Amino acid sequence: MSQLVGAIDQGTTSTRFLVFNEKLNLIASHQMEFEQINPKEGWTEHDPLKILETVQICISESLKKCKSQGYTIENLKSIGITNQRETTCVWDKITGKPLHNAIVWLDMRNQQICNDLIQKFGNQDHFKEICGLPISTYFSATKLNWLIQNVPEVKTAIDEERCLFGTIDSWLIWNLTGGNQGGNHVTDVTNASRTMLMDLKSAKWSEKMCESLNIPMKILPKICSSCEIYGNVKNPIFNDILNVPIAGCLGDQQAALVGQLCFSSGQVKNTYGTGCFMLKNTGTNIINSTHGLLTTVAYQFGPDNPVFYALEGSVAVAGHAIQWLRDKIQMIDSAPQIDEFAAKVKDSGDVYFVPAFSGLFCPYWRSDARGIIVGLTSFTNKYHLARACLESTCFQAMEVLKAMEEDSEIKIKELRVDGGMTKSDLCMQIQADLLGINVIRPSQIETTALGAALSAGLGVKVWDSLDQIKQILNEHSEFTIFSSKIDEKERKQRFIKWKKAVEKSFNWID
Ligand code: G3P
Repeated sequence: MSQLVGAIDQGTTSTRFLVFNEKLNLIASHQMEFEQINPKEGWTEHDPLKILETVQICISESLKKCKSQGYTIENLKSIGITNQRETTCVWDKITGKPLHNAIVWLDMRNQQICNDLIQKFGNQDHFKEICGLPISTYFSATKLNWLIQNVPEVKTAIDEERCLFGTIDSWLIWNLTGGNQGGNHVTDVTNASRTMLMDLKSAKWSEKMCESLNIPMKILPKICSSCEIYGNVKNPIFNDILNVPIAGCLGDQQAALVGQLCFSSGQVKNTYGTGCFMLKNTGTNIINSTHGLLTTVAYQFGPDNPVFYALEGSVAVAGHAIQWLRDKIQMIDSAPQIDEFAAKVKDSGDVYFVPAFSGLFCPYWRSDARGIIVGLTSFTNKYHLARACLESTCFQAMEVLKAMEEDSEIKIKELRVDGGMTKSDLCMQIQADLLGINVIRPSQIETTALGAALSAGLGVKVWDSLDQIKQILNEHSEFTIFSSKIDEKERKQRFIKWKKAVEKSFNWID
């Protein structure tokens, strides 16, 4: 009987469910966007119940497509979850209802809490040795602090032992496995590593971090590996997949690392989504960056297997800048139109766009930065702006790659890419030009979902080993390779201008 594996891909702007067969071909999928709630400048929330609803509909619609191809629910052996990371949920375990909207990773309402912590502990990197992360609005712990300090229902529910905390993976697994009728309160080690509360070495919650950040440990989920059975689907809302085991879970960027088969130390991938996230596998070594990168968990395939780590360069705004040009500025009608516009000019006309909408993450960690467009003249048109927008993502990725090289003193020879923006040949060519190395795009760019499906399949032995998976994928994968078409002199000149533009974005907020 053919075996299928499903992946819930719960991202920042959309939810998807994708189904792969044993040969790792994608056979069905469904995607839904959902509302971005912006109650104030710098605040972004998601409604956790709406997220659940989109998950349920995406599963249902994809399974209809599977059925039309002759499959039944018996073919579906397991489900994996991959998710936007850091986004913070709190809910009531008795009623099953959220105690507040989820606070999204891009949200900056916790700025003052971060400033106070930096002042109290002396520097932004005070906890990096333990959790691998600087004190920044990006991570879950200070978002949770904000909820405890500002939402009385959260404080009361904690006092009455009714409050549960989790990132989106925890919220989904708890609901899928039964919700307030006995759902399992768990997370995986990759998602836990994004909260600031986990000790990287032990892969357990750190008492010291919880104490320093004032987080009650009793509301935290149990940390599991990225590949094990977290529970079977028990919630009648998900009656399409009742009793199917949930057997894989990874934060979305780690899932893409797995989906790109970057299992060897030194391998690097870059995913272009709402933000842009470059991860370098560092094997079982925990490397502390001195160039603004994060240290994070890459994956752990089973509770008895070792934890693998990665260095990560996180860029907050990549595809998000294209959405901004579409939705807020209305310069383009659809995201792919950015490409059409950018292709109408041979360069950006010396215009530089620094989309520091949420400050700047790696390698700067400047919360005082804000977006700027510089170099405008009366010659500038919307096509130059479109090109500058694509270039902004590529320049940011270039800075992260440089930081990785400086940290390890080893030159990176090639970059594997995936995610929505990689569909653009022009964008990938600009990326190769700026980096001066080959940029490699697989034919299967759904690597995030693929990573979650691989993990879930391994968890129930659809595949026996990573070697078997590599063999299957290598048999039918094709790659497009982009090589630089500019010389070192031009690359340097453009980079110097970009750096000047970045500096101009600093000090906008006190
Ligand atoms: O850390 C945030 C990241 O997980 C969001 O990913 O794909 O929704 O941009 P994405």
